[in-house]
Amino acid sequence: MAQQVRARIIGTGSFTPPKRMTNADFEKIVDTSDEWIITRTGIRERRIADNGTQSSDMAVEATRRALEMAECSDEEIEAIIVGTVTPDYRLPSTACVLQEKMGFPNAVAFDTVAACTGFINSLSIGRSFIESGVYKKVLVIGVEKLSSITNYKDRNTCVLFGDAAGAAILGPSENGRGVVSTFMKSDGKLREWLWMPTGGAVNPYTPDFTFDGSDKIYMNGSEVFKVAVRQMCDAALRVIKGAGLQPSDVSVVVPHQANIRIIEALAKRLGVGMDKVVLNIDKYGNTSAASVPLALDEANREGRLKPNDNVLMVAFGGGLIWGAALVRW
Ligand code: COA
Repeated sequence: MAQQVRARIIGTGSFTPPKRMTNADFEKIVDTSDEWIITRTGIRERRIADNGTQSSDMAVEATRRALEMAECSDEEIEAIIVGTVTPDYRLPSTACVLQEKMGFPNAVAFDTVAACTGFINSLSIGRSFIESGVYKKVLVIGVEKLSSITNYKDRNTCVLFGDAAGAAILGPSENGRGVVSTFMKSDGKLREWLWMPTGGAVNPYTPDFTFDGSDKIYMNGSEVFKVAVRQMCDAALRVIKGAGLQPSDVSVVVPHQANIRIIEALAKRLGVGMDKVVLNIDKYGNTSAASVPLALDEANREGRLKPNDNVLMVAFGGGLIWGAALVRW
């Protein structure tokens, strides 16, 4: 009997802008300290895109690298799914801007808005396209220029965020390798714990708008923290079970890099050693939708992901929305 078609990740790529912003830089602009930031978050520095570099530009670089690894041409790609909350424009999608910049003559391109869960969400949708036979090659991206929506007067949030892009090419596989199970869930009742009140249709910019921080990210960090630990753990256990596995079968964990304490609590609850967890939060901070594919690409290029490894990805973000994916590498 023929094996079920699975969506396999056949190439990964990522991009981070060269400009670094260190904890010492934040000591100069808000009431904070290197020691507080490292112990409370695990972050040492983050990358900041310059004014002329947009989400689509970072996505282009990550995509180039992923296509190269997959040995795939842009003509082969049939769908481009970009997870982002920092699109170049409100209209059209950043996926369409990327298409305009790179080609992709045979693809449909669209964005998903799932904040830090953006890549897992896009991966889940891409997986469905491939398993159902609708498309054969799908490009999934998580990209953010979070510096464009960060309030650099708010010490509660500004030290956390950075800019980056990560991409993956999905193709069909019939040898059991690929995305085995995914899970997504949200709770819109908690939307005001992590949001941007101004700039949408409810509170549009008016000619007399003065900067009050409401057009930037607001977060109730301590409440989000508790839900993040609980729901990331639940999502992880669901995809592990969905794949017919136990937590001890997980080879590598690629978690959303929001806070080192969240990641450690997750690993402890799952009973997975930190040696199996991919960490780069110290270098990049929280890059929202780019966080998981950036860490995945780094682990992949370092040779940490071996054929048939059980790779667990898990994320959580504004919505609130969370999700996980279990991939047989
Ligand atoms: N430097 C120094 N002090 C800071 C600070 C900073 N950058 N940011 C906050 N503080 C202060 C607070 O003002 C507060 O002071 P107070 O007690 O005098 O009011 C104190 O530190 C504790 O604040 P609290 O929010 O309880 O800290 P925390 O231990 O929860 O850590 C976060 C704050 C944001 C790091 C943490 O809550 C977090 O990581 N939350 C989840 C982030 C996340 O997962 N987001 C979702 C995905 S995007």
